Amino acid sequence: MKATVIAEGRGTKWICFGRDDDMPEKIIETNHFLVLTPSDAVLLEPGGTESFPALLSAVLQYCPVERINHVFVSHQDPDVCSSISLWNDTLPHAKMYAPWLWEGFLRHFGCDRMEFVPIPDEGLTLALDQCDLRFVPAHYLHSPGNFNVYDARLKVLMSGDLGAALEPRGSPLYVDDFALHEPRMRLFHQRWLPSRRAKDDWVRRVRQLDVDLMAPQHGRIFRGPDVTRFLDWLEALEVGIGV
Ligand SMILES: [Fe+2]
Ligand SMILES: [Fe+2]
Repeated sequence: MKATVIAEGRGTKWICFGRDDDMPEKIIETNHFLVLTPSDAVLLEPGGTESFPALLSAVLQYCPVERINHVFVSHQDPDVCSSISLWNDTLPHAKMYAPWLWEGFLRHFGCDRMEFVPIPDEGLTLALDQCDLRFVPAHYLHSPGNFNVYDARLKVLMSGDLGAALEPRGSPLYVDDFALHEPRMRLFHQRWLPSRRAKDDWVRRVRQLDVDLMAPQHGRIFRGPDVTRFLDWLEALEVGIGV
């Protein structure tokens, strides 16, 4: 599994993990993130059971398990959190943040050793030493209880399934040509996002944030002007096409 530092400064590092060459063909590729400060480490989107051994060994290159004191789960999907029982045994000292809506469901995965912190619908701010992470509501995009993560100091938005792309293995980490990339995102957003109202509200709120880097849970990372191109594209897109 590859690891790349995608943002760094003010005592904080964002590291993206993914693009594992050993991942079986039919499993959707996922990105995972570690936010590292001098005394905290936050694992965002711990991933599927299939990814656990590779992700754990990649994360250990950056910090010991004792230092990972927070885990964030954006929503209930297996690609986001079916590994939770394994992390539960690895990080019994950690707090796990997940939408309140999914607590009774996520507990079926087995997460009784970590402290479960339900995120209220309006979101919450996790204060770390050197940086704050804001859990920004992204409900119905696609899950009815769903959050993004925003770091206002490094201007990074971890956008979960928003911005996701379906493409062959071995793709680059960053969007390099938005027009070429757009078709790879189209089906995912049209079919997995159910609500135009939720989508338009999210676009309006994200336009008010200062975002240099938008990092989704699948596919490539958007930089600078490509973040705005994505918001414009999503705003114009028809969603909920499976009806
Ligand atoms: Fe999902
Ligand atoms: Fe996903």
